[in-house]
Amino acid sequence: MCGIVGATAERSVAGILLEGLRRLEYRGYDSAGMAVWDGAAINRLRRAGKVQALADALDSQPLEGSSGIAHTRWATHGKPLEHNAHPHMSGDKLAVVHNGIIENFEALKQELVDDGYLFTSETDTEVIAHLLDRSVKTGISLLEAVNSVVGFLEGAFALGVIHQERPGELYAARKGSPLVIGVGIGENFIASDQLALLPVTDRFMFLEEGDTALLTQENIQVWDRTGEIVERKVSRYEHGVSAADKGGFKHYMLKEIYEQPAATQAAFHDRIQDGLVNENVFGEQAAKIFDQVKQIQIIACGTSYHAGMIAKYWMEGLAGIPCHVEVASEYRYRPVVIQQGTLFISISQSGETADTLAALRDVQDQILASLTICNVPGSSLVRESDLHLMTNAGPEIGVASTKAFTTQLVALLLTTLVIGRRFSLTQEKEREIVNALQQLPSLIEQSIAMDAEIEEMSQAFAEKHHSLFLGRGTLYPVAMEGALKLKEISYIHAEAYPAGELKHGPLALVDKDMPVVTVAPRNDMLDKLKANLQEVSARGGELFVFAGCTQNLQSAEGVHVLGMPEIPEILEPIVYTVPLQLLSYHVAVLKGTDVDQPRNLAKSVTVE
Ligand code: G6P
Repeated sequence: MCGIVGATAERSVAGILLEGLRRLEYRGYDSAGMAVWDGAAINRLRRAGKVQALADALDSQPLEGSSGIAHTRWATHGKPLEHNAHPHMSGDKLAVVHNGIIENFEALKQELVDDGYLFTSETDTEVIAHLLDRSVKTGISLLEAVNSVVGFLEGAFALGVIHQERPGELYAARKGSPLVIGVGIGENFIASDQLALLPVTDRFMFLEEGDTALLTQENIQVWDRTGEIVERKVSRYEHGVSAADKGGFKHYMLKEIYEQPAATQAAFHDRIQDGLVNENVFGEQAAKIFDQVKQIQIIACGTSYHAGMIAKYWMEGLAGIPCHVEVASEYRYRPVVIQQGTLFISISQSGETADTLAALRDVQDQILASLTICNVPGSSLVRESDLHLMTNAGPEIGVASTKAFTTQLVALLLTTLVIGRRFSLTQEKEREIVNALQQLPSLIEQSIAMDAEIEEMSQAFAEKHHSLFLGRGTLYPVAMEGALKLKEISYIHAEAYPAGELKHGPLALVDKDMPVVTVAPRNDMLDKLKANLQEVSARGGELFVFAGCTQNLQSAEGVHVLGMPEIPEILEPIVYTVPLQLLSYHVAVLKGTDVDQPRNLAKSVTVE
């Protein structure tokens, strides 16, 4: 989704803004632009397509100046063309960048057209520029104008504004879309994501809902939604600048797959005390809240939803507590019955997904409490939930989620254990699972060691248009996640089915052009799954089966068995995910697609 960078400094800011945009590329976008104040005027440059197109344009028409704003746009209103790219200007004096959607822009636009404003784009953002200009022309200050205009805007937004007559000043506002202030020495910055600013600072101030801010080189002043001046805490970025680099890997996605042994370990190792999960890590109120929980409602989107589906098997199967899971975009728009004692768990890598956040806000006053499983400290979901458990995966740049997913699973397993001990989970069982978790990093390493074999296997997919993924039990959501990964980055149509549903439709599709990937559990479902595999084989389908060595499955004509390490059953969904990630990665590389920034997708979906 859209990305914002802004800077006010003594030095020239164009390079800082451009590097910031490059670091936001992973979020997904289709055009880019920049506006810089050169001491006298605001100059703007925009290009459709990649940030590199903007960089090339800057080579021939450099923008010099000490304050500016820049943006990567992910089209919502109006096609991804240069005239719709941000920054948007009102006349030549005022420039605005915006993330989010202004829901009432049509009415506002009509008003502005009636007042004589000419629109040069189809975007909702342009109304903000003209509204600010109109307000300033009434004689109020730009700060007052920003405060008054944000009051007219319905929907979600994060804004950055500069004005020709306010040298060195950078205005920011947020409601519903993330915005962070980067605190420098004699220079200050804004961005939609800390990663954009890591080359210039590691100190950040997170704006709260409804905040506006005025940044100059020396000062940062923040007002809350009621107009009161407030202090917002400055925190340091914990992961080190290099965590956001490719570190010698060809793609971020591959690096992030390889980081999973360490990332999953970071998700549990500090949280274990005397062989049991320390529930204080969920927050001060955790024990009191968990004591009252009667059921769980999990809400998430995309890959995070798949993590939620696996958690349902654990919550009901292990903890013995009723658990419902639903995608946020459905849940938030239907009448729901929320039972007493519901713990609302939102799962989100970014903590900013618009539907997940809206679902939480909608039910706040009907639930017992909320818990967020998240990878981004200080994100909206973390701030707005009663409890949170960070996944500790470190920055994930590849749009297709990998380590964020496996660490979510670890966090959800810890959650199952602390809630389960209040239900049907014995201490002995908890110890057994905690013990099993210690093996997780090494088991993931062993699956990563299958990389070369999987790369070879990927050749059977590169020319295909469709594929089927099958799984049972906790490995059914793993099959869904495998299919999602393949779709996202290789653009091959992939569908996942619980293996038992094969006969109820998908079997009709199976032929030699439809590779079938199966994740075969070791549990009591294995015999049933073997029967399903026969059904595929008998119809000429080419089968790729990931299975443990003791599962007594042999490769044969049209059946390729890939031997997985022996894995404690509870960890199967986490470890079996890894080869499927590698498979989609290698297929995408063979197809030559943009692995880290697949077409049309965004890392953080901050609009509906
Ligand atoms: C986008 C991303 C997915 C992610 C989903 C939910 O679609 O491309 O990788 O799973 O959003 O995001 P969240 O940040 O809430 O986990």
